[in-house]
Amino acid sequence: MKDFLSIDQCMKEQLEELLDLSTKLKKKYKAGKRDLCLEGKTLAMLFEKPSLRTRMSFQVAMTDLGGASIYVKPEDIGGIGKREPVKDIARVLSRYVHGIMARTFEHQTVVELAKFAEIPVINALTDWSHPCQVMADVLTIQEHLGKLDGVTIAYIGDGNNVARSLAFVAAKLDMKLVVASPGGYELDSESIDKANSYKADTVEQTNNPADAVKDAQVIYTDTWVSMGQEEEKQKRIKDFEGFGIDEELLKNAPAGVKIMHCLPAYRGYEISDGVVESENSIIFDQAENRLHFQRALLKKLLTTEAQRGK
Ligand code: CP
Ligand code: NVA
Repeated sequence: MKDFLSIDQCMKEQLEELLDLSTKLKKKYKAGKRDLCLEGKTLAMLFEKPSLRTRMSFQVAMTDLGGASIYVKPEDIGGIGKREPVKDIARVLSRYVHGIMARTFEHQTVVELAKFAEIPVINALTDWSHPCQVMADVLTIQEHLGKLDGVTIAYIGDGNNVARSLAFVAAKLDMKLVVASPGGYELDSESIDKANSYKADTVEQTNNPADAVKDAQVIYTDTWVSMGQEEEKQKRIKDFEGFGIDEELLKNAPAGVKIMHCLPAYRGYEISDGVVESENSIIFDQAENRLHFQRALLKKLLTTEAQRGK
């Protein structure tokens, strides 16, 4: 495993190993101990979009492990693939740093970076997927429910990058995912077929949120307007009416159902303030686990890279 670009490229065993390592390192750091395995190593962090969680948690994770990180805005380097080709950025960075993480619009950009970089490349969100997010999510589910096997997640909202990554991780780790989206905003059938080819009957699609939540142990949502879709905001808000997670929808769900959201949350749209703040919400544990998962991911990828002699 050189790169971490998409859950569908990982084997179940690799994902389980990363989850185990996340748990071990989380315990270690909570006990006040450290693991300085990345001393002398630097991570380049390229962002085409805004970020709170991803930027902060990756930077803190590198510091925790004894390494350093450099945050690069697109304008700092004249745009990714604009001032110079992506393949040149990948090869130049490979001469300076030990890993690249990138948040881009096009998924192809991270694929291209990985193809030409001699060092690990981590997908920190693209229009197509958000693999670090869903690994933190399954870590959180494991902690709260004590298992992943057989857990049913109801995802209510846009069939977007987060929904797609959830579909892949559910299939790899023996969970079920029911996706409820309005017509025209469903998760694409290619991704559903792909997930179901890893494990039959993993993903089910519906246009009825009340139906989707009835057997759920976890209800999950994300913004209706992803980064880059700002111009569609008014139309989307109208089209997603009835797909918000609120107290009314929760009447259809089992008592004690856990509530998740990758954040940032737009209260009053995809989720109500009351649900975010409710006792069943595990949203902030989920946000914390970005740090614990990514610390494990960096240890795994950047120490393997060290063994290759850089
Ligand atoms: N959930 C998530 O990726 O948050 P940021 O956009 O703040 O990084
Ligand atoms: N679907 C959202 C996720 C934000 C973390 C987006 O791409 O903007």
